[in-house]
Formats: sequence, structure tokens, C-alpha cells
Amino acid sequence: MPQIRLYNSDCIEAMKNIGDHTIDLIVTDPPYNLGNFMKNRDTNLSKMRDNFFGSAGWDDMEFEEWEKSMDTFFKSSARVMKKGGTMIVFMAIIKVETIIKLAQKHGFYYKTTGIWHKTNPMPRNMNLHFVNSTEAWVYFTYKTRTGTFNNDGAMFHDFVETAVTSNGERKYGKHPTQKPESLIQHFVELLSNREDWVLDPFMGSGTTGVVAKRTERNFIGVELNEIYFEIAKSRIEGENK
Ligand SMILES: C[S@@+](CC[C@H](N)C(=O)[O-])C[C@H]1O[C@@H](n2cnc3c(N)ncnc32)[C@H](O)[C@@H]1O
Repeated sequence: MPQIRLYNSDCIEAMKNIGDHTIDLIVTDPPYNLGNFMKNRDTNLSKMRDNFFGSAGWDDMEFEEWEKSMDTFFKSSARVMKKGGTMIVFMAIIKVETIIKLAQKHGFYYKTTGIWHKTNPMPRNMNLHFVNSTEAWVYFTYKTRTGTFNNDGAMFHDFVETAVTSNGERKYGKHPTQKPESLIQHFVELLSNREDWVLDPFMGSGTTGVVAKRTERNFIGVELNEIYFEIAKSRIEGENK
């Protein structure tokens, strides 16, 4: 049985419990810091802001404060990461350059920026402008130029397409930015092996944990918000029952 460790805490604090250079793969989806960006726009999207960007922690910070927090996050990640380990960080496309700069500062080797395309996005304001249907993922290895890549001779594009998270995956409660399991499983299977240690310091509703358990990886997950933490705990416990 995979080992699972979950913390309802700030990720920087929780990561102090993780040994040096013990993690094989980080797959994470930190706050994109779009709260203030959205608030400063002259739009009628206040409901959307409440629902989507008001989640706990680092989302409503000023940019400089968020950048400092992400810097600390990459510093903590570098300490726990194995040499040759891999990291996938989901991010808003407008923040990718910042993420690459911070990760490189702490010894991560930048490999690729890829796109996740949602095949059935909310058709929000479709008669006003382009419907938002993409997010970026940024791929790094730690201290080496290559890491685990279980492609078995197949070609993998830097463009991943899935439907948005289904209701079935939300049966333990809703998280506003929950990622589909198939999307996260794609990265976990390709970039790690059975019994590896997978970490998600911003686990939200626990999608990375569900997938890690399903694919027989050990998992450490952290979530600051108590409600989301409880959803994650129930989801991960419910996996394979
Ligand atoms: C984009 S969501 C992750 C969603 C997740 N991928 C899922 O599938 O449910 C980011 C999460 O990070 C949490 N968070 C924000 N700041 C945090 C911090 N300092 N430490 C731990 N979690 C934090 C938020 O509460 C939010 O649930």
C-alpha cells in the first residue's frame, strides 16, 4: 500500500517535515495570483471572482508578495527534491516567465512550457470575447537535464487536452479550480515510477493524491484551507475503497 501523508497547513511550514532530497516528483497547481488582476479589471465578473479567485492563501496577494512566496516555495522544493527529480507547475500563461526565473534561481532546469486545453470550458461571455480555455504547465527537472520519462517509445506533445472536471470527481465537495484526474494522471505516470514519492504542496481537493494512490506512488499533500483539506482527505481515503 502506498504511504500517504496529509497536512492541513501552510505548505512552507509543512514541507519542513520532509527530509532533504527525498521527493521524486512534484505536481502542483499553486494560486495563480489572479485575484487582484481580476479585481482591477472593469468587468461585471464579480461573481466569478468570488467563486474562482477568492480561494485561500496566496491568490489575493500583491504581485511582489506572491513572487516572494513563490520564491520561498521553490527554495523549499529544491531542498526536498531528489537530484534528477521532476516538477510540473500549473500556472496562468501571463505568470510563466516569473515561475521559470524563480525555479532556475533554486537549481531547477527548465524544460518545457506546455498547454492544457479544456475541450468544454464554461462559455462565459462568449459573445464578448474569446472564451478562456487554456492554462499552462511548466516542466522542470532538478539539477539534471533529464528525469524519468516513461514514454515507451511513444511521442508526447506539449499540448494536453481533456474535458473539465466531471461531477463524479466532485462527489466529496467542490473546489473552484479542481483539476481533472486524467490530466494529473498523465503527468504522474509519465514522470514517476511505482513507489516513488510524489508531493503536492497546494493540493486543493487532493487530485494529485487520488492519482498517486491509484498508481501506487507514495504521496505527501498540503492544503491550507480546512474545507478543501477535508475534501482532499475524504477523496484520497475513498480512492480504491
Ligand atoms: C489552484 S488550487 C489547487 C487545486 C487542485 N489542483 C485540485 O485539483 O483540487 C490551489 C490551492 O492552494 C491552496 N493554498 C493557497 N496558499 C497555500 C499555502 N500557502 N499552503 C498550502 N496551500 C495553499 C488554496 O487553498 C487552493 O486550494
